[in-house]
Amino acid sequence: MSKILITGGAGFIGSAILKHLNNEQHEIFVIDNLSFGNRAFIDIPDSHFYQLDILNHDELIKTIKKINPDKVIHLAAIHFIPYCNQHPFQSANINIQGTMNVLEAIKQTNCNQVLFASTAAVYPIYDGALSEEHETGPMDIYGLSKLTGEQLCQKFFLETGIATVICRFFNAFGPNETNPHLIPEIQHQIKSGKRTIELGNILPKRDFIHTYDMANAISIMIKKLTTGITTINLGQGEEYAVTEIVNAFERILNEKITIEIDEARVRKVERMHLLADVSKLKALGWQPAISIDMGIKTLLEA
Ligand SMILES: NC(=O)c1ccc[n+]([C@@H]2O[C@H](COP(=O)([O-])OP(=O)(O)OC[C@H]3O[C@@H](n4cnc5c(N)ncnc54)[C@H](O)[C@@H]3O)[C@@H](O)[C@H]2O)c1
Repeated sequence: MSKILITGGAGFIGSAILKHLNNEQHEIFVIDNLSFGNRAFIDIPDSHFYQLDILNHDELIKTIKKINPDKVIHLAAIHFIPYCNQHPFQSANINIQGTMNVLEAIKQTNCNQVLFASTAAVYPIYDGALSEEHETGPMDIYGLSKLTGEQLCQKFFLETGIATVICRFFNAFGPNETNPHLIPEIQHQIKSGKRTIELGNILPKRDFIHTYDMANAISIMIKKLTTGITTINLGQGEEYAVTEIVNAFERILNEKITIEIDEARVRKVERMHLLADVSKLKALGWQPAISIDMGIKTLLEA
């Protein structure tokens, strides 16, 4: 059992990780300003929850020193790409300076491992499976801020020798979504009774991974990657076009769904593929357990 601090733990992915680690009997602490997260997503005593902004340098240092965690999973960030594009200064500030604050605070504790939530958005446009050795080349302020976060983690590791995992998340789906990503958007339109749904670009393919499988992978990483610095992809290793996701909804509902293109939602610059090479993750003994159909079925039943 470890004392684990999750920044951004009341968010979409954080709440799934917290649930998983709670089942493993760890003592979990959360720092979250609830700008996107929700206190009700997480089953944690108030004594272990700090509603705090990671940009609040002094209070953050004080709080993390008080918690004195064994491990830190740093998820707190501004993440939804359209929001980041509309609020580039705020996003860069939280994702970069906020990460600097978290890392500075950790140096003042007995922490022995840090996991940083990075993203597939650090990669440039590429049509094949992306391995961790692939060159980086972010296309937007979000990817750029996360790549800077990765570099801050490298510097942190060189300075401290504390085990560091840079985990590049691909497209998450599951319960407790906080941002209007593709799958919750379809889910929302379907649940409101529509069978003709409005979407933006429908041809791009994405590597969707269920948050249950992500949480399981994170649990394995924190058990196994306890020395050195590791960069590792976290995706399912399969890619699906938007139309294939809609087909999955059709299969589960056993109803026809028609897609209408909403020009207002169409992104001007779009990657056609974003697929993870997950060999490194699988070599740790991880396998995905929740298929697209299973994941969507539970979302529709909720
Ligand atoms: N959802 C995805 O598909 C995806 C893909 C790649 C990477 N990621 C990364 O995974 C992490 C979690 O993302 P998510 O999808 O759960 O998003 P989310 O918005 O649900 O979670 C982020 C959490 O951080 C909190 N937060 C934001 N700014 C903060 C601040 N200044 N101080 C304290 N807390 C703050 C929010 O309230 C929220 O609970 C993020 O770092 C994100 O960049 C997510």
